Amino acid sequence: MTFVVMESCIKCKYTDCVDVCPTDAFREGPNFLAIEPDDCIDCALCVRECPVEAIFADADVPKEQAQFTRLNVVLARTWKPIVEKTAPLPNAEKWAKVKIKFHLLERRPS
Ligand code: SF4
Ligand code: F3S
Repeated sequence: MTFVVMESCIKCKYTDCVDVCPTDAFREGPNFLAIEPDDCIDCALCVRECPVEAIFADADVPKEQAQFTRLNVVLARTWKPIVEKTAPLPNAEKWAKVKIKFHLLERRPS
C-alpha cells in the first residue's frame, strides 16, 4: 500500500503534510505534491495534516480519481523532494473550494 495525493491539492499546496512525514516521501511540482510510493511507509500521519483532505490510502482512492495513483508515481519520479513546510500558493484559500482542478495541474519540474 501507499498514500496518494489527490486533486484537491492542486493550486493549494499547503505543505503541512511534508513536516510530519518520517521518510521525506513527498516530491514537489509547481502546483501539486506527489508521494513517492517506494519511500512511503503507510504511517498515515500526513492524512490529518492536510487542510483540504487531499491525501488518501491508495486502497481508498475514489473511483473517479483513480488516475491519481499512477500520476503520483510518475510525477514523484520527475520531481525533487520537499522536506520542509513552505508557504501555500497564492489564493490557496480560494482554490481550496474548487473541486475540478485536474486540467490546471502543472507537470514540469519546479
Ligand atoms: Fe509520509 Fe506516512 Fe504520509 Fe507515507 S503515509 S507520505 S510515510 S507521512
Ligand atoms: Fe497538498 Fe495538502 Fe500537502 S494541500 S501539499 S497534500 S497539506
